[in-house]
Amino acid sequence: MLVNSFSLCYHNKLILAPMVRVGTLPMRLLALDYGADIVYCEELIDLKMLQCKRVVNEVLSTVDFVAPDDRVVFRTCKREQSRVIFQMGTSDAERALAVARLVENDVAGIDVNMGCPKEYSTKGGMGAALLSDPDKIEKVRPAREKAEVLMQELELPGPSTPLLWI
Ligand SMILES: Cc1cc2nc3c(=O)[nH]c(=O)nc-3n(C[C@H](O)[C@H](O)[C@H](O)COP(=O)(O)O)c2cc1C
Repeated sequence: MLVNSFSLCYHNKLILAPMVRVGTLPMRLLALDYGADIVYCEELIDLKMLQCKRVVNEVLSTVDFVAPDDRVVFRTCKREQSRVIFQMGTSDAERALAVARLVENDVAGIDVNMGCPKEYSTKGGMGAALLSDPDKIEKVRPAREKAEVLMQELELPGPSTPLLWI
């Protein structure tokens, strides 16, 4: 996970977990209203995100990532910008980096799902599948190291501090 290590300390924090079909913007704002310190979006798939365009929605005061079929895949807003972690499903470091670059100015951190055991995630080599294939992990490692270097260039909001890639 890539976070701004100064502004997003996880110690003793109330966190809304990532939940597919649940962790959308209304739920995240409600969680902030009820005292959450950090909120995760639902897992969003890299290939889907890479089809999206970033659109500023003047009517709702949101930033929308809109698919070619006009579906809003990810919606966020200024109020959660310093609190929201963008979680993606990916099995490819280059795609992950491209998605990170797409959302970098609108979120506080970026998380790659490496724990989901559901077929939704594992069928494409994502989620828990990333951990269960040692050969793949070995192949991914150099790409990840490359990604770490490139990640240093990402501009996340908040004070300028060293970035963490967990
Ligand atoms: C409906 C639902 C959807 C979930 N979707 C995700 C997800 O997209 N990404 C993820 O990492 N975990 C997902 N999880 C797992 C939760 O984030 C959390 O880790 C799990 O529910 C255990 O939380 P608990 O220990 O507080 O019960 C999901 C869980 C539920 C119930």
